[in-house]
Amino acid sequence: MSRPAIQGYSPLQIGLHWVIAALVIFQIVFGEEIKDLGRALNRGTDPETATVVLGNLHIWAGIAILALTVWRLALRFTRGAPAPAGGTALTLAIMKAAHGLFYALLLAMPVTGLVAWYLGVHDAGEIHEAMKPVFVLLIALHVLAVVWHRAVLKDDTMARMLRPGR
Ligand code: HEM
Ligand code: HEM
Repeated sequence: MSRPAIQGYSPLQIGLHWVIAALVIFQIVFGEEIKDLGRALNRGTDPETATVVLGNLHIWAGIAILALTVWRLALRFTRGAPAPAGGTALTLAIMKAAHGLFYALLLAMPVTGLVAWYLGVHDAGEIHEAMKPVFVLLIALHVLAVVWHRAVLKDDTMARMLRPGR
């Protein structure tokens, strides 16, 4: 049942990583705007143009993240991922859990957002908001791990997400 081992991420896998990362950062930085849009619509007041534009972009960027993540996971299951760069059993377990949690959030954030916005389920909105700090902490941990690989383990993990391998 084992797949042939691959040496690195493909150009498509790398491209998807960075496009999704950029969209996620956009969502987190401008997440407040859709709340303002929702409030204005509920009160029947006129939202500002920037609020309408950024609020709608939140919806479309979120849907794009969902679609691209499904594509990315399909690639991960069919093509696979390269063996980890290195680390102890404990750090490898943390890495596996962190990457698993990333994928769970990349699916759960858009789904809860869509359910809150289009079906008006208040609790889904609460869960959506509660996941924000988890996402932010995970990104910080992820970036720290890349720095730790460079500075302590002295391996070039960063290059794996920049230069494609076979
Ligand atoms: C902001 C949102 C981000 C998300 C959601 C994200 C998500 C992920 C996920 C899920 C993986 C595992 C890939 C797999 O094997 O399936 C990964 C790998 C990686 N990410 Fe990110 N990432 C983000 C930002 C960043 C940033 C800012 C950097 C650079 C500092 C970065 C550098 C890397 C590197 C180097 C790997 C490869 C790790 C390895 O080869 O084991 N990521 N990322
Ligand atoms: C990965 C994708 C997404 C991320 C990272 C994300 C992130 C965020 C963030 C950071 C906030 C602000 C939370 C706060 O300030 O407390 C927010 C609010 C919100 N987002 Fe998203 N979002 C995503 C996808 C979506 C999608 C697809 C929709 C669909 C319409 C959506 C609908 C909403 C709504 C309705 C709110 C306001 C929630 C409330 O007031 O209860 N989000 N989102």
